[in-house]
Amino acid sequence: MLNLSYRLSRGTTEIILGGGALASIGKLEDSLVVYPHSLRQMVESGLNGNFESLEINDGEDSKSLDTVMKILDRLMEGRFKRSSSLVSVGGGTVSDVAGLAASLYLRGIPYTSVPTTLLSMVDASLGGKTGVNFRGVKNVLGTFYCASRIVVDTPLIGKMPHNLVEDGIGEIAKYAAIMDSDLYSFLMENTLDGVLKDQTKTEYLISKCIRDKMELVSQDEFDQGGKRIVLNFGHTFGHAIEAASNFSIGHGHAVLGGMLLEVDLAVKMGLATEEVQEGVQELIRHLGFSVREKDYLAGDRAQLSEYIASDKKSTRHTIKLPIPQSIGIPKVCEVEFSSISGYLERK
Ligand SMILES: NC(=O)c1ccc[n+]([C@@H]2O[C@H](COP(=O)([O-])OP(=O)(O)OC[C@H]3O[C@@H](n4cnc5c(N)ncnc54)[C@H](O)[C@@H]3O)[C@@H](O)[C@H]2O)c1
Repeated sequence: MLNLSYRLSRGTTEIILGGGALASIGKLEDSLVVYPHSLRQMVESGLNGNFESLEINDGEDSKSLDTVMKILDRLMEGRFKRSSSLVSVGGGTVSDVAGLAASLYLRGIPYTSVPTTLLSMVDASLGGKTGVNFRGVKNVLGTFYCASRIVVDTPLIGKMPHNLVEDGIGEIAKYAAIMDSDLYSFLMENTLDGVLKDQTKTEYLISKCIRDKMELVSQDEFDQGGKRIVLNFGHTFGHAIEAASNFSIGHGHAVLGGMLLEVDLAVKMGLATEEVQEGVQELIRHLGFSVREKDYLAGDRAQLSEYIASDKKSTRHTIKLPIPQSIGIPKVCEVEFSSISGYLERK
């Protein structure tokens, strides 16, 4: 089992990773465990102690103030104190909502996150961004509140439905292409199936992604225009693809499409080399996905451009796009919306 520790502004975030990580939580006392209905059995058989539990709905629709209120009601009714703790078990939607509730109750109580999807293991549970959707806008309400403990039980990945594995692949490919050439080589030297059937390789893969994200988070915890923007590679176009498809295109596919499109745009604008583009395409092809940009373009182009212009990271006329300068080395390019909409119209 691997233990990682990061010092952040509110204290230390400890990450426990490997087979049996769930058991390492020990006996839970004075805790509220929040989880979706689908994971009741995992909570009942995997967690010990005299804890209270609250089942919630998960999925994008449940990322709402209503769900946060349900958790807060339960914390109030149970007279939980500042020394009590909130534990979330679930994917990114559960950790986003539970993390927000933990940050609000009594101005913040200790919070443990147990991510159960690949996406939440390599991304959503890390880095302290909590959030809910409001008035149709994704993640527009939220706080920065890092879990004090993140427990990643890697053998869970072998039992996950295939779509949950696919949803995490975009993030893994992103780390490899933009900031981690060792991870890139590892992925190219192995098949994804081979990695996921081998616990040692799986732990290596997940721990590399965790270290990559936490390294940037440690340097730019509150996402104030510093290093954290690198994590956005593939996401400006990716989020637009997800939204324009009404979320019928999963996050993993959308990010892969976003990476292909952003690099293609950069090459056409003279901001990236064809060698980088080939490197990104080779990785995505090797992971078993299409490298035809058109296969990811849902909805009409004007709508995609509109989503991109409303991205939280944009200024009035431009947006910053992190692009690999070479595989594993990022650079940040500032691109005008007019260039993006012109590019999309021609696609
Ligand atoms: N806070 C962040 O930094 C951050 C980063 C990336 C994504 N996110 C958010 O994460 C959310 C997506 O999270 P997600 O992809 O984990 O999806 P999710 O939480 O919606 O879970 C997807 C489905 O998988 C089921 N599930 C969970 N664990 C399972 C398991 N082990 N076996 C079988 N089924 C299981 C759930 O019940 C649910 O139906 C989005 O809302 C996104 O905005 C947040």
